[in-house]
Amino acid sequence: MNVTLTVNGKQHTLTIEPRVTLLDALGEYLRLVGSKKGCDHGQCGACTVLIDGQRVYSCLALAVMQEGKEIVTIEGLATGDTLHPVQEAFIDNDGFQCGYCTPGQICASVALLEEVKRGCVSAVTPDLHSPPQLAELSEAEIKERLSGNLCRCSAYNGIVAAVQQVIGQKAPSPVAAVMVSESGDNSAL
Ligand code: FES
Ligand code: FES
Repeated sequence: MNVTLTVNGKQHTLTIEPRVTLLDALGEYLRLVGSKKGCDHGQCGACTVLIDGQRVYSCLALAVMQEGKEIVTIEGLATGDTLHPVQEAFIDNDGFQCGYCTPGQICASVALLEEVKRGCVSAVTPDLHSPPQLAELSEAEIKERLSGNLCRCSAYNGIVAAVQQVIGQKAPSPVAAVMVSESGDNSAL
């Protein structure tokens, strides 16, 4: 069947079987290979993309159900040569090692910031009637809200530090601070 997907602002009409996932449509039909297949079972978050601003595991979403929606992948976050602030922060804070989980982590972090702006609470929000503001987002909130994205390299301290940098906070732990200072000039990454 035919489906027209809007991905990173461009429309693509694909002829695919109804069972093709969005992740496979992106990688195998559109050659957008930034979104990664980690588990293919909704357990790791490596395939996270944004659909109408919400983070979605693309391995669990059927491509044919995404017609008319705005899909943004890691390839669509930068503006020309200017990286998205979250991408910059991941580089600044060594928020990755092998990088396999990184596209999903960055898409999830972008969505996390929007969710907080919209006043969404999480499982660890102390007062459900008082959603956290970006400037006062706790380390526990960031960890909980990114708990659907696993990193086998365990770059978690850098990932949390990256989110904190974007919202104007300092790095969360001495470990993250050491990682930043030892990394030196990251501009070549
Ligand atoms: S590949 Fe989609 S959640 Fe793991
Ligand atoms: S950086 Fe390697 S899996 Fe996360």
